[in-house]
Amino acid sequence: MKQLIINDRIKKSRVPARLDLLQSGTGLVLGLFMWIHMILVASILLGKGSFNFVARTMELSFLSSSGHGYPAAVFFAVLIVFALFILHAALGVRKFPISWKQHAIFRSQMNMMNHGDTNLWYWQVVTGFVMFFLGSVHLFIMLTNPGQIDPYLSADRVFTSFMWPLYLVLLVSVELHAAIGLYRLCMKWGWFGGKDPARVREKLQTFKKRATIFFLTLGGLSLLVFFIIGWGHSDRAGERYTKKSHGAVSETAAPAKAVQVEAEEPAQGKTDKANN
Ligand code: HEM
Repeated sequence: MKQLIINDRIKKSRVPARLDLLQSGTGLVLGLFMWIHMILVASILLGKGSFNFVARTMELSFLSSSGHGYPAAVFFAVLIVFALFILHAALGVRKFPISWKQHAIFRSQMNMMNHGDTNLWYWQVVTGFVMFFLGSVHLFIMLTNPGQIDPYLSADRVFTSFMWPLYLVLLVSVELHAAIGLYRLCMKWGWFGGKDPARVREKLQTFKKRATIFFLTLGGLSLLVFFIIGWGHSDRAGERYTKKSHGAVSETAAPAKAVQVEAEEPAQGKTDKANN
């Protein structure tokens, strides 16, 4: 009897619905964060100076008279995003087809129905699973190196620390997951309702496709530029970017040559002296 009452209470519980709402809420915040994150990281496409400006601004450097940043600001931002990331993952795992039987049933229903949004949900599970691991690596590195974000240090991470394969797989996973997730949120909660739901769905699907292509292209190009900078900087990996060091790179080249010329001359002088 007691078990029946407990079952009845569990059946009537609002907790699952509240957890769904929390999952949607954390998903919305993380999805929009990712689009902003990609745009900020893509500042590297405008040059090292632009990326450095964005990185320093994220460190709230405009609050200090000397212009130096506060890595603690990035640390707390990463801490909040990491906490949301873990909470969203914990809420998401409730829906995973955990056993082989559950997985097989889901796959057979998917094939039978061949319904676009059901297939999308499967990709949410796969990309979510991938991000459990790859997203955590990236976030932990950012959490423990909040002051190590500049055009050279980021490029060294991508090339010399061999993070580019991780970023590539993470980029595809997070962009698919964010775009599908935001699309499903709009469908699930009836945002952008309107009189013609079929037309709204069509429009949202087009937006989802375009957003995915836009952010994958932006992220892919940024990663390529980081890779090229990192490759060129691999002999000085770990050297920070500073406006002066950036300018000096070419200058250094020049003075080295001048030294070369000088060396020859004194030798000549010496012989002269010898001759004298
Ligand atoms: C506040 C938290 C975060 C910060 C401060 C941050 C910072 C950065 C920085 C500085 C880069 C450039 C490469 C580097 O320096 O190593 C980067 C790249 C990247 N991040 Fe994040 N990130 C954060 C959260 C996330 C999350 C949650 C994800 C996905 C789960 C993510 C996915 C990526 C991807 C895919 C790249 C490669 C960029 C590209 O392909 O253009 N990041 N991030």
